[in-house]
Amino acid sequence: MACTEEVGREAEALRSQIERHNHLYYVEARPEISDYDFDRLLERLVRLEHEHPELRTPDSPTQRVGGAVTKEFPPVEHRRPMLSLSNTYSIREVEEFARRVERLLEAEGAEGRDMVAELKFDGVAVSLLYRDGILVRGATRGDGRKGDDITANLRTVATVPLRLREFDGAFREGEGREMEIRGEVFMQKEDFEALNETRPEEDRFANPRNATAGTLKLQDSREVARRRLRFVAYYLDGIRDADTPHFRRLGMLEEAGFFTGGHYRLCHGMQEVASFIAEWGEGRWKLPYETDGVVLKLDDVRQWRTLGATSKSPRWAIAYKYPAQQATTVLIDVVFQVGRLGTITPVAELEPVRLAGSTVSRSTLHNFDEMERLGVMKGDRVVVEKSGEVIPKVIRVVAKDRPPDARAVALPTLCPECGTPIVREEGEVGWYCPNEEGCPAQLKGRVLHFASRNAMDIQNLGESLVDQLVRLGLVRDPGDLYFLQEPQLLRLERMGPKSARNLLRALDESRKESFARLLFALGIRHVGQATARELAAAFPSMEALRLASLEELSEVPDIGPVIAQSIREWFMKPSVPALLEKLRDARLPLEAAPPKATLNRNFEGVTVVFTGTLRRHDRQSASELVLERGGRIASTVSRKTGLVVAGSEAGSKLEKALKLGLRVLGEDEFEAML
Ligand code: IVH
Repeated sequence: MACTEEVGREAEALRSQIERHNHLYYVEARPEISDYDFDRLLERLVRLEHEHPELRTPDSPTQRVGGAVTKEFPPVEHRRPMLSLSNTYSIREVEEFARRVERLLEAEGAEGRDMVAELKFDGVAVSLLYRDGILVRGATRGDGRKGDDITANLRTVATVPLRLREFDGAFREGEGREMEIRGEVFMQKEDFEALNETRPEEDRFANPRNATAGTLKLQDSREVARRRLRFVAYYLDGIRDADTPHFRRLGMLEEAGFFTGGHYRLCHGMQEVASFIAEWGEGRWKLPYETDGVVLKLDDVRQWRTLGATSKSPRWAIAYKYPAQQATTVLIDVVFQVGRLGTITPVAELEPVRLAGSTVSRSTLHNFDEMERLGVMKGDRVVVEKSGEVIPKVIRVVAKDRPPDARAVALPTLCPECGTPIVREEGEVGWYCPNEEGCPAQLKGRVLHFASRNAMDIQNLGESLVDQLVRLGLVRDPGDLYFLQEPQLLRLERMGPKSARNLLRALDESRKESFARLLFALGIRHVGQATARELAAAFPSMEALRLASLEELSEVPDIGPVIAQSIREWFMKPSVPALLEKLRDARLPLEAAPPKATLNRNFEGVTVVFTGTLRRHDRQSASELVLERGGRIASTVSRKTGLVVAGSEAGSKLEKALKLGLRVLGEDEFEAML
């Protein structure tokens, strides 16, 4: 038996080491060890806590990987209402705000006019509650008075400290002090783009803020952990000295381990405020995250109390929002693209123009209705805008600049790729090509999606190659890829023996990808990478998934009726049985891989019966945990039962087990055995 005390010390040392490296990486942006070494440390700690569950603590970095599934987020009341800010787009109104504050304070005979200027992060506001320095609750703003308890999801956010560092005497361990930190959860631009790539085209997020909001609502915290959310802190309440000025509080937040962005300034007078606003108007484009303005707050928090708030926003702060970035350019042409699902999207080809730090030469016009609303003609001068969105959009035509030779854009009635009359679903804005089986554009889209990096990751299978394969009829569905022969490939343009062999090798390699990836690769409407992962965990084979009912599908976390329906419909398509057969013949992974070798075999050969309600797992996931560890699941108790796990309100099965003298475990003992 390992000396528990020693193990306890090792776990504690690992925890502080990991949190230190986490902070160096995410907050200070100066990592000292490689990702690989970081993962090693974390794995070691996961193993220790696994072998010694009594060592687990709520502030352990292992909590960040997620795992808890929350079906509903209980409502929580905020200690103080979470107000919003009054907004303005003009410096003049900022000056008025400063004068108003001045007047009010003068009337009160109060001192202190300094303002703290901060960047306004474009994310989702949340509140974090720490007791004795330990994170105990995280909640959304909700209606300002009541929000949702999303603690499990917020724990996975790398820049949310699970335990505060002791800072400047503001709290002492064991005194039971409660502190509230507010800030914004956001996603960096790069992480946002990577996330969108894992989503089907039809479900991409428009901007990082929407992606953040969508992620915080997920039921499966493991998926939240994958999405690399971050947290920036801008408000600290509950410290010892209630009069500590705001600027100093921002420093304290950093000492406590929070990320603040670091770009804030104590301004003495409007001049300094105006130059802060001007500087960041340009500077913000170089930041890895989106900001949409500057927030100004009185530094002296005693004045916060003096001035108070209206029902919506405090009188001691204001948000200046930068105007959306715009540029004018010429619309050269409109092309109509046909997507993987047949959707027809008008895309504007523009004369290249610089906008908000990048060059824009194309922009989606979304759909035909939007085109008509804009009234664009070829040759028109148009205004493109970049606001919250990463992708710029055409917002209007400069009518007075319309050249005499401007030409109308003809809306297609036939699919530009296959000539089939296009249709529109009742109540929808989009037109689409219904020729699912025969339209080469759709087939190309499906094959490219199948081969893409997050799907089957088939190297060397690019656009022009897929184009030829489809045009020559060599590939009629993704399954055909696996039956291509070298001589066929050699007849293609720009294909030598070496590239042909590379492609065949890449195809062969892709057979090793997981069942979850294959599910994503199939391109079922609304089934992105995360959904595919959830599905593969709940239904570990294509056959199990095919037989799953709507109800069974809807029981999977984050799968609602729309996705469930779409899965059922996919299996009903006439071409699907043949596709699945081809994939089977091609030896693709139509089943989830057997349990990972890293898991223990603590349930090897044991038949387990669950009874009553478990707090930590639902039946399905508890069963999986047992199966992964070599056990079997039964639904009734008999002499062959090896083990009964009894949750709360266990009834007749428990009675029977006791009568038979079977081994019975409570939830905690079950957890330990896992
Ligand atoms: S202070 C009572 N500071 O913008 C004042 N808010 O439009 C609380 N925001 O609800 C907010 N960056 O979600 C503050 N540096 C910052 C901010 C910030 C972004 C958000 C916040 C707020 C909204 C108001």
